[in-house]
Amino acid sequence: MRASLVSAAILGLASQAASIDPLVIKGSKWFNSKTGAQFFVKGVDYQPDITSTSTVRDPLADTAGCMRDLPFLKDLGVNAIRVYQTEPFGNHDKCMSMLSDAGIYVMLDLSTPTETINRDSPAYDVDLLGYYQRKVDTFAKYDNVFAFLAGNEVTNAYNNTGASAYVKAALRDVKSYIKSKHLTIPVGYATNDDADIRWQLQTYFDCGSISDRADFYGINLYEWCGPAATFESSGYANVVKNFTNWDVPVLLTEYGCNAIKPRTFPEIAAIYGSNMTSSFSGGFVYEYVEEPNEYGLVKVSGSTGTKTADYDYFKKALAAVNPSGVSMSSYTPSGKQQSCPSVSASNNWIASSSLPPSPSNATCSCMMNTLTCVSKQSSMPTSAGDLAKFGQSVSSIFGIVCGTVDCGAVSGNATTGKYGKYSFCDPLQRVSWVMTEWYNDQRNVDGACDFDGFAKVVSVKSTDDSSCSDQKDDPQSSKGPSSDKGDSSSSSSSAAKILGGAPSMAALSVSVVLAMLTSTLL
Ligand SMILES: *[C@@H]1O[C@H](CO)[C@@H](O)[C@H](O)[C@H]1NC(C)=O
Ligand SMILES: *[C@@H]1O[C@H](CO)[C@@H](O)[C@H](O)[C@H]1NC(C)=O
Ligand SMILES: *[C@@H]1O[C@H](CO)[C@@H](O)[C@H](O)[C@H]1NC(C)=O
Ligand SMILES: *[C@@H]1O[C@H](CO)[C@@H](O)[C@H](O)[C@H]1NC(C)=O
Ligand SMILES: *[C@@H]1O[C@H](CO)[C@@H](O)[C@H](O)[C@H]1NC(C)=O
Repeated sequence: MRASLVSAAILGLASQAASIDPLVIKGSKWFNSKTGAQFFVKGVDYQPDITSTSTVRDPLADTAGCMRDLPFLKDLGVNAIRVYQTEPFGNHDKCMSMLSDAGIYVMLDLSTPTETINRDSPAYDVDLLGYYQRKVDTFAKYDNVFAFLAGNEVTNAYNNTGASAYVKAALRDVKSYIKSKHLTIPVGYATNDDADIRWQLQTYFDCGSISDRADFYGINLYEWCGPAATFESSGYANVVKNFTNWDVPVLLTEYGCNAIKPRTFPEIAAIYGSNMTSSFSGGFVYEYVEEPNEYGLVKVSGSTGTKTADYDYFKKALAAVNPSGVSMSSYTPSGKQQSCPSVSASNNWIASSSLPPSPSNATCSCMMNTLTCVSKQSSMPTSAGDLAKFGQSVSSIFGIVCGTVDCGAVSGNATTGKYGKYSFCDPLQRVSWVMTEWYNDQRNVDGACDFDGFAKVVSVKSTDDSSCSDQKDDPQSSKGPSSDKGDSSSSSSSAAKILGGAPSMAALSVSVVLAMLTSTLL
Protein backbone atom coordinates (compact mmCIF):
# COMPACT_ATOMS: atom_id res chain seq x y z
CA MET A 1 0.00 0.00 0.00
CA ARG A 2 1.61 3.21 -1.12
CA ALA A 3 -0.94 5.68 0.26
CA SER A 4 0.71 6.71 3.48
CA LEU A 5 -1.09 6.66 6.78
CA VAL A 6 -0.26 10.31 7.17
CA SER A 7 -2.09 11.35 4.05
CA ALA A 8 -4.97 9.04 4.87
CA ALA A 9 -5.24 10.67 8.26
CA ILE A 10 -5.20 14.15 6.78
CA LEU A 11 -8.04 13.16 4.53
CA GLY A 12 -9.96 11.72 7.47
CA LEU A 13 -10.08 8.32 5.81
CA ALA A 14 -10.10 5.00 7.52
CA SER A 15 -6.49 4.04 7.99
CA GLN A 16 -7.16 0.66 6.42
CA ALA A 17 -8.20 2.34 3.16
CA ALA A 18 -7.98 -0.34 0.51
CA SER A 19 -5.00 -0.17 -1.79
CA ILE A 20 -5.50 -0.47 -5.50
CA ASP A 21 -4.19 -3.54 -7.32
CA PRO A 22 -1.33 -2.63 -9.66
CA LEU A 23 -1.88 -3.40 -13.34
CA VAL A 24 0.53 -5.43 -15.45
CA ILE A 25 0.97 -5.98 -19.16
CA LYS A 26 1.13 -9.47 -20.62
CA GLY A 27 1.37 -9.59 -24.41
CA SER A 28 -1.12 -7.14 -25.87
CA LYS A 29 -3.34 -6.87 -22.79
CA TRP A 30 -3.46 -5.23 -19.42
CA PHE A 31 -4.35 -7.31 -16.36
CA ASN A 32 -5.06 -6.75 -12.71
CA SER A 33 -1.92 -8.23 -11.15
CA LYS A 34 -3.82 -9.62 -8.14
CA THR A 35 -6.99 -11.04 -9.66
CA GLY A 36 -5.63 -11.82 -13.13
CA ALA A 37 -8.72 -10.23 -14.73
CA GLN A 38 -8.18 -8.38 -18.00
CA PHE A 39 -8.31 -4.61 -17.57
CA PHE A 40 -10.07 -2.32 -20.02
CA VAL A 41 -9.50 1.40 -19.62
CA LYS A 42 -12.81 3.20 -19.13
CA GLY A 43 -11.18 6.56 -18.94
CA VAL A 44 -11.47 10.29 -19.28
CA ASP A 45 -8.76 12.79 -20.19
CA TYR A 46 -8.35 15.05 -17.19
CA GLN A 47 -6.64 18.45 -17.30
CA PRO A 48 -8.53 21.21 -15.50
CA ASP A 49 -6.64 24.45 -15.98
CA ILE A 50 -5.58 25.71 -12.59
CA THR A 51 -3.40 28.56 -13.79
CA SER A 52 -5.84 31.08 -12.31
CA THR A 53 -4.87 29.98 -8.81
CA SER A 54 -1.37 28.62 -9.34
CA THR A 55 1.64 29.36 -11.49
CA VAL A 56 1.91 25.70 -12.36
CA ARG A 57 -0.60 23.73 -14.39
CA ASP A 58 -0.61 20.54 -12.37
CA PRO A 59 -4.12 19.36 -11.43
CA LEU A 60 -2.75 16.46 -9.36
CA ALA A 61 -1.14 18.97 -6.99
CA ASP A 62 -4.45 20.82 -6.61
CA THR A 63 -6.22 19.11 -3.73
CA ALA A 64 -9.23 21.40 -3.85
CA GLY A 65 -9.67 20.71 -7.55
CA CYS A 66 -9.41 16.97 -7.00
CA MET A 67 -12.02 17.15 -4.24
CA ARG A 68 -14.32 19.10 -6.55
CA ASP A 69 -13.88 16.61 -9.39
CA LEU A 70 -13.74 13.25 -7.64
CA PRO A 71 -17.53 12.93 -7.13
CA PHE A 72 -18.05 13.50 -10.86
CA LEU A 73 -15.38 10.97 -11.81
CA LYS A 74 -16.94 8.37 -9.52
CA ASP A 75 -20.43 9.13 -10.80
CA LEU A 76 -19.28 8.78 -14.40
CA GLY A 77 -18.02 5.31 -13.60
CA VAL A 78 -14.53 5.81 -15.02
CA ASN A 79 -11.67 3.63 -13.85
CA ALA A 80 -8.80 5.75 -15.20
CA ILE A 81 -7.74 9.28 -16.05
CA ARG A 82 -5.03 10.51 -18.37
CA VAL A 83 -3.31 13.69 -17.16
CA TYR A 84 -1.32 15.68 -19.71
CA GLN A 85 0.59 18.19 -17.64
CA THR A 86 2.01 17.65 -14.19
CA GLU A 87 5.25 18.73 -12.49
CA PRO A 88 7.87 16.82 -10.52
CA PHE A 89 7.50 19.22 -7.62
CA GLY A 90 4.51 20.02 -5.46
CA ASN A 91 2.60 17.55 -3.33
CA HIS A 92 0.49 14.94 -5.12
CA ASP A 93 -0.24 12.64 -2.18
CA LYS A 94 -3.79 13.76 -1.50
CA CYS A 95 -5.06 13.69 -5.07
CA MET A 96 -3.33 10.40 -5.77
CA SER A 97 -4.74 8.69 -2.71
CA MET A 98 -8.24 10.02 -3.33
CA LEU A 99 -8.09 8.61 -6.85
CA SER A 100 -6.65 5.34 -5.65
CA ASP A 101 -9.35 4.94 -3.03
CA ALA A 102 -11.93 5.48 -5.77
CA GLY A 103 -10.34 2.73 -7.86
CA ILE A 104 -9.08 5.18 -10.47
CA TYR A 105 -5.79 4.53 -12.30
CA VAL A 106 -3.64 7.30 -13.75
CA MET A 107 -1.75 7.52 -17.06
CA LEU A 108 0.70 10.42 -17.13
CA ASP A 109 2.29 12.31 -19.97
CA LEU A 110 5.94 13.04 -19.23
CA SER A 111 6.21 16.19 -21.33
CA THR A 112 4.85 19.70 -20.76
CA PRO A 113 4.62 22.62 -23.18
CA THR A 114 8.09 23.73 -22.07
CA GLU A 115 9.76 20.36 -21.44
CA THR A 116 9.15 18.58 -24.69
CA ILE A 117 10.49 17.59 -28.08
CA ASN A 118 9.58 20.22 -30.63
CA ARG A 119 8.20 18.64 -33.81
CA ASP A 120 9.69 21.23 -36.16
CA SER A 121 13.13 21.51 -34.55
CA PRO A 122 13.51 18.26 -32.62
CA ALA A 123 16.24 17.95 -30.00
CA TYR A 124 16.67 15.71 -27.00
CA ASP A 125 19.17 16.62 -24.32
CA VAL A 126 20.41 16.08 -20.78
CA ASP A 127 17.89 18.55 -19.40
CA LEU A 128 14.84 16.87 -20.92
CA LEU A 129 15.91 13.41 -19.81
CA GLY A 130 16.60 14.75 -16.31
CA TYR A 131 13.13 16.28 -16.22
CA TYR A 132 11.47 13.03 -17.31
CA GLN A 133 13.48 11.12 -14.69
CA ARG A 134 12.33 13.47 -11.96
CA LYS A 135 8.75 12.97 -13.07
CA VAL A 136 9.18 9.20 -12.82
CA ASP A 137 10.72 9.62 -9.34
CA THR A 138 7.76 11.74 -8.27
CA PHE A 139 4.94 9.55 -9.55
CA ALA A 140 6.23 5.99 -9.64
CA LYS A 141 5.58 5.61 -5.91
CA TYR A 142 1.82 5.65 -6.42
CA ASP A 143 0.28 2.22 -7.03
CA ASN A 144 -2.38 3.62 -9.34
CA VAL A 145 0.08 5.17 -11.81
CA PHE A 146 -0.17 2.48 -14.47
CA ALA A 147 1.59 4.07 -17.45
CA PHE A 148 3.68 6.95 -18.72
CA LEU A 149 3.50 8.54 -22.16
CA ALA A 150 6.76 9.70 -23.73
CA GLY A 151 5.00 11.96 -26.20
CA ASN A 152 1.68 13.09 -27.59
CA GLU A 153 1.17 13.76 -31.30
CA VAL A 154 4.74 14.98 -31.72
CA THR A 155 4.93 13.85 -35.33
CA ASN A 156 1.66 15.02 -36.83
CA ALA A 157 2.43 15.37 -40.54
CA TYR A 158 4.60 13.77 -43.19
CA ASN A 159 7.13 16.61 -43.00
CA ASN A 160 7.98 16.21 -39.31
CA THR A 161 8.37 12.45 -39.02
CA GLY A 162 12.06 12.94 -38.07
CA ALA A 163 10.95 14.14 -34.62
CA SER A 164 9.81 10.59 -33.81
CA ALA A 165 13.45 9.45 -33.63
CA TYR A 166 14.01 11.85 -30.72
CA VAL A 167 10.77 10.84 -29.01
CA LYS A 168 11.66 7.17 -29.32
CA ALA A 169 15.12 7.83 -27.87
CA ALA A 170 13.51 9.54 -24.87
CA LEU A 171 11.06 6.64 -24.51
CA ARG A 172 13.98 4.16 -24.56
CA ASP A 173 15.88 6.10 -21.90
CA VAL A 174 12.88 6.46 -19.58
CA LYS A 175 12.23 2.72 -19.90
CA SER A 176 15.83 2.05 -18.98
CA TYR A 177 15.65 4.46 -16.04
CA ILE A 178 12.48 2.78 -14.73
CA LYS A 179 14.15 -0.60 -15.05
CA SER A 180 17.22 0.64 -13.18
CA LYS A 181 14.88 1.56 -10.30
CA HIS A 182 13.46 -1.99 -10.32
CA LEU A 183 10.04 -0.70 -11.33
CA THR A 184 7.77 -2.06 -14.05
CA ILE A 185 5.63 0.89 -15.16
CA PRO A 186 5.23 0.79 -18.96
CA VAL A 187 6.11 3.71 -21.22
CA GLY A 188 4.12 4.29 -24.38
CA TYR A 189 3.35 6.88 -27.02
CA ALA A 190 0.11 8.65 -28.00
CA THR A 191 -0.24 9.35 -31.70
CA ASN A 192 -2.40 11.59 -33.78
CA ASP A 193 -4.50 10.12 -36.56
CA ASP A 194 -3.20 11.02 -40.00
CA ALA A 195 -3.83 8.42 -42.70
CA ASP A 196 -0.64 9.47 -44.56
CA ILE A 197 1.62 8.35 -41.74
CA ARG A 198 -0.57 6.18 -39.48
CA TRP A 199 0.97 2.87 -40.46
CA GLN A 200 4.55 4.21 -40.51
CA LEU A 201 4.11 5.64 -36.99
CA GLN A 202 2.56 2.56 -35.47
CA THR A 203 5.29 0.31 -36.86
CA TYR A 204 8.11 2.72 -35.97
CA PHE A 205 7.17 2.74 -32.30
CA ASP A 206 6.85 -1.05 -32.33
CA CYS A 207 10.03 -1.97 -34.20
CA GLY A 208 13.65 -2.55 -33.24
CA SER A 209 15.12 -3.75 -30.01
CA ILE A 210 12.60 -4.55 -27.25
CA SER A 211 14.33 -2.00 -25.02
CA ASP A 212 13.58 0.74 -27.60
CA ARG A 213 10.01 -0.28 -28.37
CA ALA A 214 6.91 1.44 -26.96
CA ASP A 215 5.42 -0.76 -24.23
CA PHE A 216 1.95 0.20 -25.45
CA TYR A 217 0.49 2.40 -28.16
CA GLY A 218 -2.20 5.06 -27.86
CA ILE A 219 -4.24 6.61 -30.66
CA ASN A 220 -6.14 9.87 -30.50
CA LEU A 221 -9.09 8.97 -32.70
CA TYR A 222 -11.89 11.34 -33.63
CA GLU A 223 -13.30 9.56 -36.65
CA TRP A 224 -16.69 8.49 -35.32
CA CYS A 225 -18.99 11.51 -35.62
CA GLY A 226 -22.60 11.16 -34.60
CA PRO A 227 -25.18 8.35 -34.36
CA ALA A 228 -25.52 7.87 -38.13
CA ALA A 229 -21.93 6.63 -38.45
CA THR A 230 -21.06 2.95 -38.12
CA PHE A 231 -17.99 0.94 -37.24
CA GLU A 232 -17.24 0.67 -40.97
CA SER A 233 -18.32 4.10 -42.23
CA SER A 234 -16.60 5.99 -39.41
CA GLY A 235 -13.18 4.65 -40.34
CA TYR A 236 -12.78 2.79 -37.03
CA ALA A 237 -12.82 -0.59 -38.81
CA ASN A 238 -9.83 0.42 -40.93
CA VAL A 239 -7.80 1.52 -37.96
CA VAL A 240 -8.68 -1.54 -35.90
CA LYS A 241 -7.92 -4.00 -38.68
CA ASN A 242 -4.29 -2.86 -38.80
CA PHE A 243 -3.75 -3.74 -35.14
CA THR A 244 -4.71 -7.37 -35.61
CA ASN A 245 -2.13 -9.59 -33.86
CA TRP A 246 -0.33 -6.58 -32.37
CA ASP A 247 2.29 -7.49 -29.79
CA VAL A 248 1.67 -4.73 -27.22
CA PRO A 249 -1.52 -3.19 -25.80
CA VAL A 250 -3.28 -0.56 -27.93
CA LEU A 251 -5.85 1.88 -26.63
CA LEU A 252 -7.54 5.15 -27.51
CA THR A 253 -5.70 7.88 -25.61
CA GLU A 254 -8.38 10.33 -26.82
CA TYR A 255 -11.70 9.79 -28.59
CA GLY A 256 -15.01 11.60 -29.05
CA CYS A 257 -15.73 13.64 -32.18
CA ASN A 258 -17.88 16.67 -31.35
CA ALA A 259 -18.97 17.73 -34.84
CA ILE A 260 -22.51 16.68 -33.90
CA LYS A 261 -23.78 17.95 -30.55
CA PRO A 262 -24.75 16.82 -28.03
CA ARG A 263 -22.43 13.85 -28.19
CA THR A 264 -24.21 10.55 -27.56
CA PHE A 265 -21.02 8.45 -27.85
CA PRO A 266 -22.20 5.62 -30.14
CA GLU A 267 -18.53 4.58 -30.54
CA ILE A 268 -18.46 3.35 -26.96
CA ALA A 269 -20.46 0.23 -27.88
CA ALA A 270 -17.81 -0.56 -30.49
CA ILE A 271 -14.76 0.26 -28.34
CA TYR A 272 -15.91 -2.16 -25.62
CA GLY A 273 -17.57 -4.66 -27.95
CA SER A 274 -16.19 -7.75 -29.64
CA ASN A 275 -15.04 -5.86 -32.76
CA MET A 276 -12.35 -4.15 -30.72
CA THR A 277 -11.74 -5.90 -27.43
CA SER A 278 -9.45 -8.54 -28.87
CA SER A 279 -6.92 -5.89 -29.93
CA PHE A 280 -7.83 -2.74 -27.98
CA SER A 281 -7.81 -2.08 -24.23
CA GLY A 282 -10.51 0.59 -24.12
CA GLY A 283 -9.79 4.29 -24.06
CA PHE A 284 -10.07 7.79 -22.65
CA VAL A 285 -12.85 10.08 -23.78
CA TYR A 286 -11.71 13.64 -24.49
CA GLU A 287 -12.24 15.31 -22.03
CA TYR A 288 -13.35 15.98 -18.47
CA VAL A 289 -13.30 19.75 -18.34
CA GLU A 290 -15.13 22.11 -20.67
CA GLU A 291 -12.73 24.38 -22.56
CA PRO A 292 -13.31 26.77 -25.48
CA ASN A 293 -13.04 23.76 -27.86
CA GLU A 294 -16.24 22.34 -26.28
CA TYR A 295 -15.29 18.73 -25.57
CA GLY A 296 -16.00 18.91 -21.84
CA LEU A 297 -18.22 16.77 -19.64
CA VAL A 298 -18.04 19.19 -16.72
CA LYS A 299 -17.78 22.95 -16.61
CA VAL A 300 -15.70 23.96 -13.63
CA SER A 301 -15.63 27.29 -11.89
CA GLY A 302 -13.76 27.70 -8.63
CA SER A 303 -14.93 24.96 -6.31
CA THR A 304 -18.02 23.98 -8.28
CA GLY A 305 -18.59 21.82 -11.31
CA THR A 306 -21.65 21.69 -13.58
CA LYS A 307 -22.51 18.88 -15.99
CA THR A 308 -22.54 19.72 -19.69
CA ALA A 309 -25.09 18.27 -22.12
CA ASP A 310 -22.67 15.42 -22.95
CA TYR A 311 -22.25 14.24 -19.36
CA ASP A 312 -25.24 11.94 -18.98
CA TYR A 313 -24.87 10.52 -22.50
CA PHE A 314 -21.31 9.51 -21.73
CA LYS A 315 -22.22 8.06 -18.36
CA LYS A 316 -25.08 6.03 -19.84
CA ALA A 317 -23.05 4.75 -22.81
CA LEU A 318 -20.22 3.67 -20.53
CA ALA A 319 -22.55 1.98 -18.05
CA ALA A 320 -24.14 -0.01 -20.90
CA VAL A 321 -20.96 -1.83 -21.88
CA ASN A 322 -19.41 -4.80 -20.21
CA PRO A 323 -16.28 -5.79 -22.11
CA SER A 324 -15.40 -9.43 -21.79
CA GLY A 325 -11.76 -10.28 -21.60
CA VAL A 326 -9.57 -13.25 -20.87
CA SER A 327 -7.82 -14.18 -17.68
CA MET A 328 -4.10 -13.66 -17.44
CA SER A 329 -3.36 -17.32 -16.76
CA SER A 330 -5.37 -18.61 -19.72
CA TYR A 331 -3.85 -16.13 -22.16
CA THR A 332 -0.87 -16.95 -24.35
CA PRO A 333 0.45 -13.91 -26.24
CA SER A 334 0.69 -14.51 -29.97
CA GLY A 335 1.15 -11.01 -31.39
CA LYS A 336 4.01 -10.18 -33.72
CA GLN A 337 6.49 -7.36 -33.46
CA GLN A 338 6.66 -5.14 -36.55
CA SER A 339 9.66 -4.22 -38.65
CA CYS A 340 10.70 -0.59 -39.04
CA PRO A 341 9.22 1.51 -41.85
CA SER A 342 11.55 2.18 -44.75
CA VAL A 343 13.16 5.61 -44.68
CA SER A 344 12.31 7.59 -47.80
CA ALA A 345 10.44 10.70 -48.77
CA SER A 346 8.18 8.60 -50.98
CA ASN A 347 7.19 6.50 -47.96
CA ASN A 348 6.42 9.73 -46.03
CA TRP A 349 8.91 8.62 -43.41
CA ILE A 350 12.34 10.11 -42.71
CA ALA A 351 13.16 8.81 -39.20
CA SER A 352 15.94 6.23 -39.16
CA SER A 353 15.64 3.29 -36.79
CA SER A 354 19.08 4.26 -35.52
CA LEU A 355 18.17 6.49 -32.57
CA PRO A 356 19.88 9.48 -30.93
CA PRO A 357 22.31 8.50 -28.15
CA SER A 358 21.38 8.55 -24.45
CA PRO A 359 22.15 11.96 -22.93
CA SER A 360 24.87 11.90 -20.29
CA ASN A 361 25.79 14.87 -18.13
CA ALA A 362 29.09 13.21 -17.31
CA THR A 363 30.03 13.26 -20.99
CA CYS A 364 29.05 16.91 -21.34
CA SER A 365 30.94 17.99 -18.18
CA CYS A 366 33.98 16.09 -19.39
CA MET A 367 33.75 17.85 -22.75
CA MET A 368 33.38 21.26 -21.06
CA ASN A 369 36.70 20.67 -19.25
CA THR A 370 38.46 20.58 -22.60
CA LEU A 371 37.13 23.94 -23.84
CA THR A 372 38.99 27.26 -23.95
CA CYS A 373 36.22 29.60 -25.11
CA VAL A 374 32.90 29.29 -23.30
CA SER A 375 29.66 31.16 -22.72
CA LYS A 376 29.86 33.81 -19.98
CA GLN A 377 26.49 32.61 -18.71
CA SER A 378 26.73 29.47 -16.64
CA SER A 379 23.05 28.58 -16.73
CA MET A 380 20.18 28.97 -19.15
CA PRO A 381 18.38 32.31 -18.86
CA THR A 382 15.06 32.16 -17.08
CA SER A 383 12.99 35.08 -18.30
CA ALA A 384 11.27 35.01 -21.67
CA GLY A 385 13.09 38.16 -22.81
CA ASP A 386 16.52 36.83 -21.83
CA LEU A 387 15.76 33.50 -23.46
CA ALA A 388 14.86 35.19 -26.72
CA LYS A 389 18.07 37.27 -26.61
CA PHE A 390 20.06 34.16 -25.78
CA GLY A 391 18.45 32.36 -28.71
CA GLN A 392 19.47 35.11 -31.09
CA SER A 393 23.09 35.10 -29.89
CA VAL A 394 23.35 31.32 -30.08
CA SER A 395 21.75 31.25 -33.50
CA SER A 396 24.11 33.81 -34.97
CA ILE A 397 27.15 32.08 -33.42
CA PHE A 398 26.13 28.76 -34.97
CA GLY A 399 25.48 30.56 -38.25
CA ILE A 400 28.94 32.16 -38.31
CA VAL A 401 30.97 29.22 -37.07
CA CYS A 402 29.25 26.21 -38.62
CA GLY A 403 29.68 27.64 -42.11
CA THR A 404 33.44 27.30 -41.56
CA VAL A 405 34.07 24.48 -39.10
CA ASP A 406 32.39 21.07 -38.87
CA CYS A 407 29.69 21.19 -36.19
CA GLY A 408 28.74 17.53 -36.57
CA ALA A 409 29.75 16.75 -32.98
CA VAL A 410 26.94 18.92 -31.60
CA SER A 411 24.27 18.19 -34.18
CA GLY A 412 22.23 15.25 -35.41
CA ASN A 413 20.26 14.04 -38.38
CA ALA A 414 17.27 11.76 -37.87
CA THR A 415 17.25 10.66 -41.50
CA THR A 416 20.81 9.43 -41.68
CA GLY A 417 20.64 8.29 -38.04
CA LYS A 418 23.97 10.02 -37.39
CA TYR A 419 24.26 11.96 -34.16
CA GLY A 420 27.24 13.87 -32.83
CA LYS A 421 28.85 12.68 -29.62
CA TYR A 422 27.84 15.95 -27.89
CA SER A 423 24.51 16.40 -29.67
CA PHE A 424 22.66 15.77 -26.39
CA CYS A 425 24.47 18.44 -24.37
CA ASP A 426 22.47 21.48 -23.33
CA PRO A 427 22.44 24.58 -25.57
CA LEU A 428 25.04 26.41 -23.42
CA GLN A 429 27.43 23.49 -23.62
CA ARG A 430 26.91 23.05 -27.34
CA VAL A 431 27.46 26.71 -28.15
CA SER A 432 30.60 26.70 -25.98
CA TRP A 433 31.94 23.72 -27.94
CA VAL A 434 31.24 25.59 -31.18
CA MET A 435 32.96 28.78 -29.98
CA THR A 436 36.05 26.86 -28.90
CA GLU A 437 36.26 25.24 -32.34
CA TRP A 438 36.19 28.71 -33.86
CA TYR A 439 38.74 30.08 -31.41
CA ASN A 440 41.08 27.19 -32.24
CA ASP A 441 40.45 27.64 -35.94
CA GLN A 442 41.52 31.29 -35.54
CA ARG A 443 44.68 30.11 -33.74
CA ASN A 444 43.45 31.67 -30.51
CA VAL A 445 44.11 35.22 -31.69
CA ASP A 446 42.98 38.01 -29.40
CA GLY A 447 39.33 38.87 -29.94
CA ALA A 448 38.42 35.57 -31.60
CA CYS A 449 36.71 34.48 -28.40
CA ASP A 450 34.30 37.33 -27.84
CA PHE A 451 31.15 36.95 -29.95
CA ASP A 452 29.86 40.41 -29.01
CA GLY A 453 30.61 39.86 -25.36
CA PHE A 454 28.84 36.48 -25.20
CA ALA A 455 32.04 34.45 -24.70
CA LYS A 456 35.05 34.41 -22.44
CA VAL A 457 38.43 32.68 -22.52
CA VAL A 458 39.02 30.07 -19.81
CA SER A 459 42.06 27.99 -19.01
CA VAL A 460 41.75 24.46 -20.21
CA LYS A 461 41.35 21.75 -17.53
CA SER A 462 42.00 18.78 -19.76
CA THR A 463 43.43 18.61 -23.24
CA ASP A 464 41.98 15.29 -24.26
CA ASP A 465 38.28 14.61 -24.78
CA SER A 466 38.72 11.12 -26.14
CA SER A 467 37.34 9.42 -23.03
CA CYS A 468 34.37 11.76 -22.54
CA SER A 469 31.93 9.61 -24.51
CA ASP A 470 32.59 6.74 -22.11
CA GLN A 471 31.41 8.79 -19.13
CA LYS A 472 27.92 7.70 -18.13
CA ASP A 473 25.58 9.07 -15.51
CA ASP A 474 24.69 6.74 -12.68
CA PRO A 475 20.89 6.64 -12.51
CA GLN A 476 21.00 5.49 -8.88
CA SER A 477 22.72 8.73 -7.88
CA SER A 478 20.19 10.98 -9.53
CA LYS A 479 18.28 12.75 -6.82
CA GLY A 480 14.51 12.78 -6.88
CA PRO A 481 12.67 15.91 -5.83
CA SER A 482 11.39 16.32 -2.29
CA SER A 483 7.83 15.74 -3.35
CA ASP A 484 6.45 16.14 0.14
CA LYS A 485 7.70 19.68 0.66
CA GLY A 486 5.57 21.37 -1.93
CA ASP A 487 8.39 23.66 -2.98
CA SER A 488 9.98 23.83 -6.35
CA SER A 489 13.57 24.44 -5.32
CA SER A 490 14.65 20.99 -6.36
CA SER A 491 13.50 21.41 -9.91
CA SER A 492 16.15 22.52 -12.32
CA SER A 493 13.49 23.15 -14.88
CA SER A 494 13.93 26.82 -14.17
CA ALA A 495 12.45 28.11 -17.38
CA ALA A 496 9.32 26.06 -16.90
CA LYS A 497 9.13 27.01 -13.25
CA ILE A 498 9.61 30.71 -13.53
CA LEU A 499 7.54 31.09 -16.63
CA GLY A 500 4.93 28.66 -15.37
CA GLY A 501 2.31 31.40 -15.14
CA ALA A 502 2.53 31.90 -18.88
CA PRO A 503 3.05 28.45 -20.31
CA SER A 504 2.48 29.33 -23.92
CA MET A 505 4.97 32.19 -23.80
CA ALA A 506 7.57 29.99 -22.13
CA ALA A 507 6.98 27.24 -24.64
CA LEU A 508 7.46 29.71 -27.42
CA SER A 509 10.71 31.06 -26.01
CA VAL A 510 12.32 27.71 -25.36
CA SER A 511 11.27 26.36 -28.71
CA VAL A 512 12.46 29.54 -30.42
CA VAL A 513 15.90 28.98 -28.91
CA LEU A 514 15.95 25.35 -29.94
CA ALA A 515 14.54 26.14 -33.37
CA MET A 516 17.29 28.68 -33.94
CA LEU A 517 19.88 26.23 -32.76
CA THR A 518 18.65 23.45 -35.00
CA SER A 519 17.80 25.43 -38.09
CA THR A 520 21.27 26.91 -38.29
CA LEU A 521 22.67 23.40 -38.38
CA LEU A 522 20.62 22.17 -41.33
C1 LIG B 1 5.92 21.25 -42.00
O1 LIG B 1 4.95 22.00 -42.71
C2 LIG B 1 4.32 22.99 -41.93
C3 LIG B 1 3.19 23.59 -42.74
O2 LIG B 1 3.62 23.89 -44.05
C4 LIG B 1 5.37 24.03 -41.49
O3 LIG B 1 4.78 25.02 -40.69
C5 LIG B 1 6.45 23.32 -40.70
O4 LIG B 1 7.47 24.21 -40.34
C6 LIG B 1 7.04 22.15 -41.50
N1 LIG B 1 7.93 21.39 -40.62
C7 LIG B 1 9.13 20.98 -41.00
C8 LIG B 1 9.92 20.21 -40.00
O5 LIG B 1 9.60 21.21 -42.10
C1 LIG C 1 21.95 17.07 -16.06
O1 LIG C 1 22.31 18.14 -15.22
C2 LIG C 1 21.31 19.15 -15.13
C3 LIG C 1 21.90 20.30 -14.32
O2 LIG C 1 22.30 19.84 -13.08
C4 LIG C 1 20.08 18.53 -14.49
O3 LIG C 1 19.05 19.48 -14.42
C5 LIG C 1 19.61 17.37 -15.32
O4 LIG C 1 18.53 16.74 -14.69
C6 LIG C 1 20.73 16.36 -15.51
N1 LIG C 1 20.29 15.34 -16.45
C7 LIG C 1 20.41 14.03 -16.20
C8 LIG C 1 19.98 13.10 -17.28
O5 LIG C 1 20.82 13.58 -15.15
C1 LIG D 1 -2.71 -0.84 -42.91
O1 LIG D 1 -1.53 -1.58 -43.10
C2 LIG D 1 -1.04 -1.61 -44.42
C3 LIG D 1 0.21 -2.47 -44.42
O2 LIG D 1 -0.09 -3.74 -43.93
C4 LIG D 1 -0.74 -0.22 -44.90
O3 LIG D 1 -0.28 -0.24 -46.22
C5 LIG D 1 -1.99 0.63 -44.80
O4 LIG D 1 -1.69 1.95 -45.15
C6 LIG D 1 -2.53 0.58 -43.38
N1 LIG D 1 -3.79 1.27 -43.32
C7 LIG D 1 -4.02 2.21 -42.43
C8 LIG D 1 -5.40 2.76 -42.44
O5 LIG D 1 -3.18 2.61 -41.65
C1 LIG E 1 -18.95 -4.76 -35.51
O1 LIG E 1 -18.59 -4.91 -36.86
C2 LIG E 1 -19.66 -5.34 -37.71
C3 LIG E 1 -19.08 -5.57 -39.09
O2 LIG E 1 -18.49 -4.38 -39.55
C4 LIG E 1 -20.77 -4.31 -37.70
O3 LIG E 1 -21.84 -4.73 -38.47
C5 LIG E 1 -21.21 -4.07 -36.26
O4 LIG E 1 -22.19 -3.05 -36.22
C6 LIG E 1 -20.04 -3.69 -35.39
N1 LIG E 1 -20.44 -3.59 -33.99
C7 LIG E 1 -20.48 -2.44 -33.34
C8 LIG E 1 -20.91 -2.49 -31.92
O5 LIG E 1 -20.16 -1.38 -33.86
C1 LIG F 1 19.94 14.90 -43.03
O1 LIG F 1 20.67 14.26 -44.04
C2 LIG F 1 19.95 14.10 -45.24
C3 LIG F 1 20.74 13.17 -46.15
O2 LIG F 1 22.06 13.58 -46.21
C4 LIG F 1 19.72 15.48 -45.83
O3 LIG F 1 19.04 15.39 -47.07
C5 LIG F 1 18.88 16.29 -44.84
O4 LIG F 1 18.72 17.62 -45.30
C6 LIG F 1 19.51 16.31 -43.48
N1 LIG F 1 18.51 16.78 -42.54
C7 LIG F 1 18.77 17.55 -41.51
C8 LIG F 1 17.62 17.87 -40.62
O5 LIG F 1 19.89 17.99 -41.33
